[in-house]
Amino acid sequence: FDDIRPKIEQHIREVKDFPKKGINFRDIMPLFTNPQLVNELCVVIADHVRHTVGHVDSVAGLEARGFLFGPQVAIQLGVPFVPIRKKGKLPGATIEAAYIKEYGEDRVEIQQGSIKTGDTVFLIDDLLATGGTLRAASDLVVKAGGKVGEAFVIIELAPLNGRAKLPDIKLTSLISYD
Ligand code: PRP
Ligand code: HPA
Repeated sequence: FDDIRPKIEQHIREVKDFPKKGINFRDIMPLFTNPQLVNELCVVIADHVRHTVGHVDSVAGLEARGFLFGPQVAIQLGVPFVPIRKKGKLPGATIEAAYIKEYGEDRVEIQQGSIKTGDTVFLIDDLLATGGTLRAASDLVVKAGGKVGEAFVIIELAPLNGRAKLPDIKLTSLISYD
């Protein structure tokens, strides 16, 4: 990742006081002004999966910004993409897992059958903050009978210590902010 990291860093915008005062929001959207770099990133992530995780049965991405990367990585690997969505968005039978947010509880869901018993799943999201979202996503994979090969985020907000919620998972971040 050493070649691509500085290029990605240049495309992350810091927005002070968003969505509320005191929060330094890391915005990945400027990256998408550079389609060649987005493609390069997804190819590099797929290579990383091949070399360090090995075989995966699917790539699961988290709503909303995990959807910007997950399908592209899945296409590179030639495996299905599994959307993990906030509760109530996916039609048909679903499996759900709860997590704690700043104010109360939220839930994420997958469609039943999208992850099968024994599947190895590569989880991807744009950012790790408190870790609640990836914790729930990982619980969901296990609930469906699968296992997490690795969880990957573009950005890790290290002081929020999301990693501490994921001691059982191999977690890789491209860029970590203090
Ligand atoms: C952000 C981010 C991660 C999550 C990380 O999404 O894209 O999915 O928060 O936070 P955590 O580690 O504290 O759980 P958000 O919940 O804002 O939803 P959105 O992508 O649908 O806007
Ligand atoms: N950027 C994007 N999503 C987030 C952030 C951030 O800084 N903090 C929590 N979710």
